Amino acid sequence: MTPEEFRRFGHQLVDWVADYRAGLEAHPVQAPVAPGEIRAQLPASPPDQPEDMQAVLADLDRIVMPGITHWQSPRFFGYFPANAPLAGVLGDLVSTGLGVIGLSWQSGPAVTELEEVVTDWVRQMVGLSPAWSGVIQDTASTSTLVALLCARERSTGYAMARGGLQAEAAPLVVYVCAQSHSSVDKAALLAGFGRDQVRLVPFDDAYAMRADALAAMVEEDLARGWRPCAVVATTGTTATTAVDPVGAIAAVARRHGLWLHVDAAMAGSAMILPECRWMWDGIEAADSLVLNAHKWLGVPFDCSLYFVRDPQHLMRVMSTNPSFLQSSVDGQVKNLRDWGIPLGRRFRALKLWFVIREQGVEALRARLRRDMANARWLAEQVAAAPGWRVLAPVALQTVCLRHEPPGLEGAALDAHTTGWAERINRSGAAYLTPAVLDGRWMVRVSVGAETTEHAHVAALWDAMRRAAEGPG
Ligand SMILES: Cc1ncc(COP(=O)(O)O)c(C=O)c1O
Repeated sequence: MTPEEFRRFGHQLVDWVADYRAGLEAHPVQAPVAPGEIRAQLPASPPDQPEDMQAVLADLDRIVMPGITHWQSPRFFGYFPANAPLAGVLGDLVSTGLGVIGLSWQSGPAVTELEEVVTDWVRQMVGLSPAWSGVIQDTASTSTLVALLCARERSTGYAMARGGLQAEAAPLVVYVCAQSHSSVDKAALLAGFGRDQVRLVPFDDAYAMRADALAAMVEEDLARGWRPCAVVATTGTTATTAVDPVGAIAAVARRHGLWLHVDAAMAGSAMILPECRWMWDGIEAADSLVLNAHKWLGVPFDCSLYFVRDPQHLMRVMSTNPSFLQSSVDGQVKNLRDWGIPLGRRFRALKLWFVIREQGVEALRARLRRDMANARWLAEQVAAAPGWRVLAPVALQTVCLRHEPPGLEGAALDAHTTGWAERINRSGAAYLTPAVLDGRWMVRVSVGAETTEHAHVAALWDAMRRAAEGPG
């Protein structure tokens, strides 16, 4: 494709994206396709000869679009929001258009320096002290893995340079909560702690980790000769957006030399609101934290910010220095390959920079406040309606609820819950994700798509009542 052809198709595709966003309301939110339906329309082998780009674009509409679930729809209430404001889409376009890879500072000085500046902007936006340094990773899963690798190496005095975990005398232990995201468990296993040494700390009535139980488990493990290494607290858990008591957990961590990593993948966005910062009181005593700008804040996926207090330690764990990557300025610059797992890095800072500049922090704050008010409104309606129940405190923008008709319990109640949620999803009117809480299915309503206004939440409440209370 020549630059002139790119200009032509690019204009066409920018129009296509603009039309798509302008017409989002028209699409059923959940893709109305059966498994295999998209694949069946695609040739099994690649074309030997070039195809006409117009034919490719036509297939985008004909084959791909029916298989899209519309995350940017104002009627999307699933998982957590993954907003992709159009300014961020343009940032991603430029990043790919430049095709630059940040292997080292020299391989793209602006890739590194813009990232240094915008991660520091975010640090200020969420009220962290200047003691923190940030870097962009792809996902929270990666950030948490990096955190636990750093924890492991701090506890063992850099065992990886000797016999690794296999040569350690005592097993290392990591403490998580049953409400932690599955990525925390996965990171602990990948970092080599082993299933038996990933301890599940109990939670309280608000689904937050119990710091007293953590302290007791650490003592128990010390008594049996194990080595407590790290604890992962969550600010905004996935099921209910519960907030672990970071300050109390930090006190236990400090007493026993544990690495404290805070998974604020979701609620980190809310820390741009001064009134929400109580949720991570004590954060300055943590060693690392992750905050996904690609969730509620609204930078197109992927853009996960990992903050650390000791970048020297991070670099010591992560650094590689083959001769072909060395340069004469290495002593004066950051080489972000030493701040995470992959060598190559995309220019992700561009989309973050575009979004913050195009929107401004005040507008971002206003949008998050709107979503929290809409979630509170919904929780009030649910709590006041006979037969309906709000199941967990509404700390942010997620409402966990259930319709509990008299006499319906156990498996029959589960079938009712998943049944009405499925009916809504299949109808295309809205998209919800049911989940299990305390062993029973419930429905999470996660408010927060960029385009979701009060009217959409009100329409969802009507749809839920019809689906759950009407004839099944
Ligand atoms: C609390 C929490 N942590 C981690 C993750 C994983 O995020 P990622 O997809 O960026 O790995 C999620 C995803 O929703 C989450 O809610």
